[in-house]
Amino acid sequence: MRGLGGRTYIVTGAASGIGRATASRLLDEGALVMGADLHAPPDDVPEGKDEAGRWAFTRVDVTDESSVDEMVRAAVAFGGAVDGVLHAAGVAGGGPVHLLAATEWARVITVNLTGTYLVAKHVIAQMLRQPARPDGQRGSVVTLASIEGLEGTAGGSAYSASKGGVVLLTKNMAIDYAGRGIRVNAICPGFIATPMTDSVLGPGMEGPRADILREHKLGHRMGRPEEIAAVAAFLLSDEASFVTGHALPVDGGYTAGRDHGVTEMLGLSGPG
Ligand code: NAI
Repeated sequence: MRGLGGRTYIVTGAASGIGRATASRLLDEGALVMGADLHAPPDDVPEGKDEAGRWAFTRVDVTDESSVDEMVRAAVAFGGAVDGVLHAAGVAGGGPVHLLAATEWARVITVNLTGTYLVAKHVIAQMLRQPARPDGQRGSVVTLASIEGLEGTAGGSAYSASKGGVVLLTKNMAIDYAGRGIRVNAICPGFIATPMTDSVLGPGMEGPRADILREHKLGHRMGRPEEIAAVAAFLLSDEASFVTGHALPVDGGYTAGRDHGVTEMLGLSGPG
């Protein structure tokens, strides 16, 4: 994709799932990638720098401002600049509010929403210190919201609140920084086959899982991390030079609306 090669991107949540797939896609596109995560990377991914100098991995806690600041400094030391970020670090959690401990509420909001604020704050501050490119662009920030930030889900509470917050924080940042050459967009994935989803829809959750698969109209399946990574790469690239302020569902049609089976019942589905 145009504009990714040779540029430097931070990917948070890079040890797993969507972050890991995006780091890999950006490397395939010729970018330099600074992966960051609270946890160690998987065994096949080196911690520290790789031999070619195109990949580096550092630990970060996105809820800790000094740790986020250090991550951005490390990316500048590694690549010379920060051209964009895919902020995928996040946690699942929630429950009906009358049963939800305040500590659990705070955990989910702090990682998902405050973490997004802190990462955006330090990345954007760095981008503003960098000279604009000849086309006036300085960089691209991509946040991870969710379909659960666009519509409610039973029991979602803290998670939905955190992701709804990410959607509007993203739109506000898009407005605040458009004039200074920084684009800001959110991806709202449907259910994606990652360790996070496995932790929520594990054994005993076969019923809800089947129901969720039905709501993904494309293929009645979960999304793949690579399908989110492809959209992230697009939003980080110059191909998206006129795209900002979006909360883009990548959800196989989950949020397109409901199918109550009426056309099928009336025999109007047609061939195929
Ligand atoms: P995952 O659990 O596979 O990966 C998340 C990563 O974030 C983990 O490696 C974890 O160590 C890291 N992390 C958690 N807390 C952190 C902290 N305080 N500081 C730094 N890193 C931290 O999850 P997945 O599925 O890849 O999710 C990525 C993002 O996409 C999350 O924000 C999630 O809410 C969002 N999302 C995921 C969906 C799914 O179906 N998997 C659907 C919609 C949104």
